Amino acid sequence: MRPNHSGIGASRHRAIAGLLACAAAALIAPASPLHADEAPPFRLCADPTNLPFSSDSPSKPGFYVEIGQALAQALGRPIAYDWYKSYFGKRTVRVTLLGKQCDAMIGLPRSEDFMGPAVIFSNTFAKEGYALVAAKGQAPGGIDGLKGKRVAVQFASTPQNLLASRDDIQKVTVLSPEEGMQALDQGRADVAFIWGPVAGWLNKTSYNDRYQIALTEGEGLSWDAAIGFAKTSTELRDRVDAVLPQLQSTIGELAVKYGLPSGAPVRFDGMAVETTTGTGTGAGVAQVANVVATETKGDATAPGTEAAGAGKEIFNGTCAHCHGPDAIQSERKIDLRLLRHRYGDEMRDKFWTTVHEGRPTKGMPAWKEVFTDDQFDSIYSFLLTVQSESND
Ligand code: HEC
Repeated sequence: MRPNHSGIGASRHRAIAGLLACAAAALIAPASPLHADEAPPFRLCADPTNLPFSSDSPSKPGFYVEIGQALAQALGRPIAYDWYKSYFGKRTVRVTLLGKQCDAMIGLPRSEDFMGPAVIFSNTFAKEGYALVAAKGQAPGGIDGLKGKRVAVQFASTPQNLLASRDDIQKVTVLSPEEGMQALDQGRADVAFIWGPVAGWLNKTSYNDRYQIALTEGEGLSWDAAIGFAKTSTELRDRVDAVLPQLQSTIGELAVKYGLPSGAPVRFDGMAVETTTGTGTGAGVAQVANVVATETKGDATAPGTEAAGAGKEIFNGTCAHCHGPDAIQSERKIDLRLLRHRYGDEMRDKFWTTVHEGRPTKGMPAWKEVFTDDQFDSIYSFLLTVQSESND
């Protein structure tokens, strides 16, 4: 479905996308018969080749594009597209949305950490993330349901980290959601714990809906998807928020159409969740496993886990010879998987002071001259993915 993207392929596509964008900008679909003439178009930034989220094919526009169409209609404005083919990361947002090429970008992670305050968000319209995929009727209800099973996990993903320390679960490492689905299909795995949107789309388009797919919930496993705007667009954002509630049932139907799993997410309580406060619109939120096309386009990682990947690299390069590779360390005193257990809400502060100042008398060097705050952030993101709740 989604071939792995090499940087070369992506930039070649980007050049083509530039041409497409020009062509597409001319195609402004008529919307509301009323004021469509005067109303400025609702300009949507989207990737032309990123199903199930978006595509420039009119017969299969994708989840985000159809949400955009419904929104434009509700706003009484025609829709226009700015197709931009790339990793859907901060750079894309900077070029397109903040570069004023479009008014809105659907499916950004609703988090201040994501380019705030330059980017502002609508209310949450869906949940997205990793999902558990299994034959119908065999869905594991949580981490204990995975005991004794062979579980396909994507390399360097949150699920892989989450299951790393469980000897009672056999991991089958795969490089992509596609490969995870194949492992299931070929009987090499009993369950796949992989990127939900792609799993759902493949299930629908290549596997005859044979599998049951459940969104998961927990640190780094899922997050809220919203519509992003440049910070100067508060008025448009408020109007979008005003019409979003009436679109929730349409959004739910679209989720089904594109194979995005619905239903209550499976909670992984082994992982502390600290980022889910104060977001969402409550009951109206469609619980779909999917939604944000991330830096890696649905391969391995979510927005937070991209940073975690970079942090892991720094960690393993610099910190691991004292704290253990991947922070796996049997000596409790320097076992950084216990930071949350040890400090709870103070965890971040403790981390920050300790890495900046060190504890020179105790053998922990100071690192503030060595790394930037962004790098410390990414190390912290990585450490968040390995926190253990256990006391032993
Ligand atoms: C030369 C060995 C060494 C290296 C390299 C090292 N540390 Fe440490 N670190 C320690 C020791 C020893 C302690 C425990 C100090 C104490 O007893 O209070 C520690 C403590 C910590 C703590 C506090 C743990 C707690 O529970 O209070 C954090 C956080 C930490 N290190 C992060 C890092 C990071 C991040 C790196 C890499 C950038 C790193 N360390 C590299 C030796 C090291």
